[in-house]
Amino acid sequence: MFIDIIAGARPNFMKIAPIIDAITKTKQQGHNIHYRLVHTGQHYDSKMSGIFFRQLGIPKPDINLGVGSGTQAQQTASIMVEYEKLLFTKSCDACLVVGDVTSTMATAITAKKLGIKVIHVEAGIRSGDISMPEEINRILTDSITDYFFTTTEMASQNLLQTGIKKEQIFFVGNTMIDTLLKQMPSFRKPNFWNTLRLSERQYILITLHRPNNVDDGQNFKVLLEAIVKATHKLPLIFPVHPRTLKTLQQINVQAPQLHFVEPLDYLEFNYLAKNAKAVVTDSGGITEETTVMGVPCMTLRATTERPETCMIGTNELLGTNPDAIQPAMDRLLNNQWKKGKIPERWDGKAAERIIAHLINIM
Ligand code: UD1
Repeated sequence: MFIDIIAGARPNFMKIAPIIDAITKTKQQGHNIHYRLVHTGQHYDSKMSGIFFRQLGIPKPDINLGVGSGTQAQQTASIMVEYEKLLFTKSCDACLVVGDVTSTMATAITAKKLGIKVIHVEAGIRSGDISMPEEINRILTDSITDYFFTTTEMASQNLLQTGIKKEQIFFVGNTMIDTLLKQMPSFRKPNFWNTLRLSERQYILITLHRPNNVDDGQNFKVLLEAIVKATHKLPLIFPVHPRTLKTLQQINVQAPQLHFVEPLDYLEFNYLAKNAKAVVTDSGGITEETTVMGVPCMTLRATTERPETCMIGTNELLGTNPDAIQPAMDRLLNNQWKKGKIPERWDGKAAERIIAHLINIM
């Protein structure tokens, strides 16, 4: 069996690392399973891509499609054209995609049209908010997937409701959490920990990069000011995504306790997340990581495709109205934040389960 593994953007890298490890182990046990690692080049900076490969021990991609930045349509089109060329040169038995980024959807469509089986890891999650490019990517990818690997029972149910057969769906757990648990002993303080005099549970970590929150400068400014006001001079650490930086350069938001830093690598970011008083974010993946680490998480979105992080975990949806931030911070600072539990099968073994199933079914 020869599988293409696709990685394109930052949140893909932690999801593919354990899958590659599991394939390597299975191959060593004598099974006939081989892969080619294809990086689309959607994220290309060392800080958004290269450093994750080095820290997570992901082998150098066999192929880099080199598509780079662009509009949604430009990226989709370039990925499809370049991936199709690759498949014409050397095809594969299956194309394994993870998550919900543009690279996921574009390569899945390309493979499927050439008669190649599509495997989707993290299939079936839905926010119901079709204005987000990720939701479109999820729906399109799942509509042409052959084998679905899900992180939760609810994701499996979502797929069953769209008419997908039970035999095609495998509830295996969460490969992003495989990586988190494996790397946890290696988490390390960033350089600025000492210079900013940070201490455990005495700062808030912020990440915001969704177009809804950051593309409109005035809106973003009001949101940041609300966070500053609600957190009573606690240090605020904000690693800035390239998309967010563009808006930040056009607005003026300053406070002595608000520290903008460059995008952090995996080990430093998760050190900060693990030891934070709380994380304020609009990322989906981070809500899963904070749930596993038991860290309070406030999501500045109206919907989530990961409801278990709210129902079982430490996450709460605050919506996008800045007025919701103060009451939530008051509860946090009065130690009234809920304690969460870890969702079923988020135990570090998801990738092993995926490869064991693939060996059986393909
Ligand atoms: C993408 C994903 C999103 C994911 C996010 C994590 C889609 C639809 N969205 O959004 O789900 O949460 O990645 O980072 O796929 N840029 C750089 N350097 C890079 C990569 C991007 O400067 O290495 C700049 C681009 O020029 C662009 C901006 O960042 O202006 C956004 O990048 P893009 O890949 O289009 O989408 P993200 O917002 O990062």
